Amino acid sequence: MTQPVPRLSLPATLALGSAALGAAFATGLFLGRRWPSWRFRRQRHLLPPEDSPLWQYLLSRSIREHPALRSLRLLTLEQPHGDYMMTCEQAQLLANLARLIKAKKALDLGTFTGYSALALALALPPAGRVVTCEVDAGPPELGRPLWRKAEMDHKIDLRLKPALETLDELLAAGEASTFDVAVVDADKENCTAYYEQCLQLLRPGGMLAIPRVLWNGEVLQPQPGDTAAESVRNLNERIRRDARVYISLLPLGDGLTLAFKI
Ligand SMILES: C[S@@+](CC[C@H](N)C(=O)[O-])C[C@H]1O[C@@H](n2cnc3c(N)ncnc32)[C@H](O)[C@@H]1O
Ligand SMILES: *[C@@H]1O[C@H](CO)[C@@H](O)[C@H](O)[C@H]1NC(C)=O
Repeated sequence: MTQPVPRLSLPATLALGSAALGAAFATGLFLGRRWPSWRFRRQRHLLPPEDSPLWQYLLSRSIREHPALRSLRLLTLEQPHGDYMMTCEQAQLLANLARLIKAKKALDLGTFTGYSALALALALPPAGRVVTCEVDAGPPELGRPLWRKAEMDHKIDLRLKPALETLDELLAAGEASTFDVAVVDADKENCTAYYEQCLQLLRPGGMLAIPRVLWNGEVLQPQPGDTAAESVRNLNERIRRDARVYISLLPLGDGLTLAFKI
């Protein structure tokens, strides 16, 4: 898998300037070719490629990242599977939306090193809480010093067990309709169950976000036996027909679905 260009190491790439953009147009990347050539590189960022000058320009004029959050991102990118992490523009969009809806309580399925959890925690008021679910104790411990550096560790409530158990516990504790935000990014096999449980835990007007819903483009034509791509494809289909939510499917990172509970 191609290692993503570390986000925000921009100037060198920007220097490529419009010449490379012109070349991208000339090679037909924007001309409606059915399969962009980079699809076959199993790259996470489909539209446009993350090292394109256009995308780097968008990031350079958009991203405002807390220093500890940036350190966490750079540290995570050095790890094996560092590209599991949510992308910086996804995290910032979710944080901005969380602020807009005055979120106080958030759910984060799939902590990994805690990049999404920390981005959400930073967007919540001092008494806010992020319940974050993980089965692997290693990555959160790597990230925790940076949660502390951001003075956000008191808001991040890590539950080390399968996410479905935590969701059941929250429902059993009477926390249905009390969460403002849910980010669903643990294993893909259980994603439909996560979606249904999170929808119950969200209040009306709450936001449910699902990153990585394009699955390297394989949701377009899942390989036989690719159960993860099948699960994501089925979930995308289910959400599209779900009258309980308003939705947007955005080409950020490897796809980001936003569903707002009506
Ligand atoms: C794509 S990563 C999450 C990325 C993270 N949200 C971020 O922004 O960096 C998915 C994580 O889910 C965890 N995971 C896998 N199965 C799980 C389960 N059943 N319950 C909870 N977490 C799980 C994996 O260990 C992995 O760390
Ligand atoms: C799906 O959820 C079940 C029940 O919690 C769990 O045992 C299983 O490990 C999960 N699947 C994956 C791939 O994490």
